[in-house]
Amino acid sequence: MDSLKLRSLCATIQQARPDLISQFSEQAITGATAVASLDAIAAALGAPGATVPKALEYQGMTVELAPCPPAEGPLAGQVALVSGAASGLGLGVARGLYAAGAMVCLTDIDGPGLDAVRAEFADPARICSAVVNVTNEESVIAGFDAAITRWGRVDAIACCAGIAPPFELVDFPLDKWRLALEINLTGYFLMGREAARIMKAQGHGGSMVLLSSKSGLEPSKANSAYNATKAGELHLARGWALELGRDGIRVNCIAPGNVFEGSKIWNPEYIAKAAAKKGIQPDEVIPYYNNLTAMNAEIKPEDIANAAVFLCSAAARRMTGQVLVVDAGQVWTR
Ligand SMILES: NC(=O)c1ccc[n+]([C@@H]2O[C@H](COP(=O)([O-])OP(=O)(O)OC[C@H]3O[C@@H](n4cnc5c(N)ncnc54)[C@H](O)[C@@H]3O)[C@@H](O)[C@H]2O)c1
Repeated sequence: MDSLKLRSLCATIQQARPDLISQFSEQAITGATAVASLDAIAAALGAPGATVPKALEYQGMTVELAPCPPAEGPLAGQVALVSGAASGLGLGVARGLYAAGAMVCLTDIDGPGLDAVRAEFADPARICSAVVNVTNEESVIAGFDAAITRWGRVDAIACCAGIAPPFELVDFPLDKWRLALEINLTGYFLMGREAARIMKAQGHGGSMVLLSSKSGLEPSKANSAYNATKAGELHLARGWALELGRDGIRVNCIAPGNVFEGSKIWNPEYIAKAAAKKGIQPDEVIPYYNNLTAMNAEIKPEDIANAAVFLCSAAARRMTGQVLVVDAGQVWTR
């Protein structure tokens, strides 16, 4: 597949008919309408709502056209791509976007993890997955191509792939520092750059949600790389919001408090280090952190997902460059 050619074909279809999805096909389709140039596509497709040809054929590529699969919810008709979707908050956000009606492309470096969670999404017309390493440019491009091949568009992304190496400053290994910068900053950069390229070409706006952390607002101890990268993500989002606002592309952050359910960051070793840092037993860690919140309440992945759905929806159409803090009342800065 010629990625650039496919992307320009899909973007041209989106400019003419944002009510459609298109699926790339490697086989010739009987009755496909041949278009000689990208300029001829608008004429072949007509205005939104008009009947469309079953498929378009352009320079040896075939794209099947269809209305968006039926779904209820504020994100019906949107295609969303989520990084870090095999676990924790990424999976929670993917579940939320899907439940809100979106077609969701799950991506993660953990292929078996993706396979294990994919089965729970019931409607095959609204789910796909791709193994993506967010630190690798080709891999990120291929992940977006998976969504474009399947649905011909991308309307929203949620950047969730992140790590938190827990070391005191004096013991912090350089390779762990560098890895955190690579995943938490370069990974978000590559995801955002690819999404911006596609959304700008489509011409009907979009939404990016960057999962930062309360640690991006208020640092936590023995967490240098996490603090720095999570603060960096906030400013990435603000800069992109400025840069992409005229294209109708909104960029916002979520700063979650501590979320334990399903998180592999909060693995037994990390919990043991947190317990040692606080002078408590490992089984006291979750109640300890809950008690730091104004509400003395545990934050769940669905609480973060609700914020992501809101930020991707038309209800947030005039919000960009912002940080939604979902921490049951723990930090008071933004
Ligand atoms: N859990 C929390 O308390 C909490 C709080 C605030 C913010 N966050 C943020 O939420 C995000 C997810 O955290 P989590 O707790 O769910 O962690 P998690 O470890 O459960 O999930 C992270 C996912 O990212 C994937 N991943 C790691 N490296 C990758 C790479 N190079 N390419 C693609 N995928 C990769 C992992 O395979 C995993 O599935 C992070 O960005 C984190 O900073 C978490």
